[in-house]
Amino acid sequence: MHYRNDPKFPEGFLWGASSSAWQVEGGVADGGRSESIIDINSRTKVPFADNSIAADHYHHYLEDVELMAECGFTSYRFSLSWSRIIPAADRKVNPEGIAFYNNLINALLERGITPIVTLYHYDMPVWVKEKCGGWMDRSIIDEFEYYCKVCYENFGDRVKYWLSINEQNMQIIYGYWLGLADSEDWFRDQWKMNHIMNLCHAKAVNLCHEMVEGGLIGPVPGMVPIYPESCRPLDQIAAMNAEEFTEKIWNDTYAYGTYSNFLKKYWEKNDIDPGILPGDMELIASAKIDYFAVNCYRSNVAKDAPLDSEQKAYLLNSTGVKGNFQFPVVPGEYALTRNPFVEYTDWDWEIDPSSLRYTLRYMHDHYHLPMIITENGFGAHESKGADGKVHDDYRINFLRENIYQVGLAIEDGCEVWGYNPWSFTDLLSTGNGIAKRYGLVYIDVTDDELNRAKDASDLSLARIKKDSFYWYSKLIKSNGTDWGEDMSGR
Ligand code: BG6
Repeated sequence: MHYRNDPKFPEGFLWGASSSAWQVEGGVADGGRSESIIDINSRTKVPFADNSIAADHYHHYLEDVELMAECGFTSYRFSLSWSRIIPAADRKVNPEGIAFYNNLINALLERGITPIVTLYHYDMPVWVKEKCGGWMDRSIIDEFEYYCKVCYENFGDRVKYWLSINEQNMQIIYGYWLGLADSEDWFRDQWKMNHIMNLCHAKAVNLCHEMVEGGLIGPVPGMVPIYPESCRPLDQIAAMNAEEFTEKIWNDTYAYGTYSNFLKKYWEKNDIDPGILPGDMELIASAKIDYFAVNCYRSNVAKDAPLDSEQKAYLLNSTGVKGNFQFPVVPGEYALTRNPFVEYTDWDWEIDPSSLRYTLRYMHDHYHLPMIITENGFGAHESKGADGKVHDDYRINFLRENIYQVGLAIEDGCEVWGYNPWSFTDLLSTGNGIAKRYGLVYIDVTDDELNRAKDASDLSLARIKKDSFYWYSKLIKSNGTDWGEDMSGR
């Protein structure tokens, strides 16, 4: 659909930004926090900085919240650190961890900013890995349930919007990148792990509904819409295969409470036992989600991959030098390939604002649930200019085009209640330290400086508002009408 007028955002639409604990907080050994697996994993991403200091939000949270208020935020999506809340296997709740999040939540609410809280964003405590073997052992279900209970008990009186597990699909697909794939038979074991994660998600959903008065909860799939390379029928089927294996099988389970026939056939043909025990499917079916929280940055293109094609792993660009990556080929299923119609970032991510509208339409058509955008954004190499400021016109263009597409999806009939791009301040990327910056606010530090510093007190870590901060502020204070330029004909 093309529309003659600019789209309208509903009254009360939540405008904010997004972060996760391990990527923004730093202070990894402060306030009684214990180590998490991602701390160890992030140390392997040299020459980029690990997460010991990150944006030091742990010590700067009040300043950060003040800036959010100045920008005009009405929401902020962040995650809780399990290691900060329950630092050891004795299950003792850490009062300093609870106090930190209470202070953050209260500071947000005092400024009219609605907290949207992720329970788990990639950061498993080391003690959980040691005690339970991580996501691979069913004993984690009790630990995770207990952790959720502690979070709802302590924060559920004020936090009403909850998110269960961030990008479960990406954790399985990129198990090596995120440090989960440490099993000998990952090809099969990933489905066992995925099943256990589904059970944990289900526990989190049910417990939220039981314990949090008026509490709502949803999963956070990482969505990358898949377009077929051509109208060749085989490319269309390949695109459907890629869609199934990268996102749809997860979403179907969250929404319908069952595993799809597509997935069950795949398991059967590949001799995969996901470890389903009596009662599991009833639990999964009982967990009724209230919405989908959608992360979407880009799109992919798929083409047919015959059975005799050469298998290739998906190697993500981990340098920020264009072309330094490899598209996957999965014989008999699909191959991903370049899209000649879009530009690419320095990390070879497709710049495709329509992917957001496509995703919202797709999710709406399949699941008929409300949606909130919990991630979207532009990762770039950045530094201060001679005037001490950061002129990120490329990010303004990206956000403008993407948010416009959200508006169009709303005009198309999708129910979307908020937009929270990645990220508010610069923070650590999953694999590229602070060199890959996403923020509306610049953190005045480099990976080298983070690596050299003994602790955060060695660094200024000054917060500098980028041009995108001012542009976004105008847009959100006008509830999505002040685009900063004429948008007609988009
Ligand atoms: C999302 C994750 O998939 O993408 C975030 O939820 C992540 O944790 C973001 O940071 C951007 O990815 P990257 O690899 O550029 O940090």
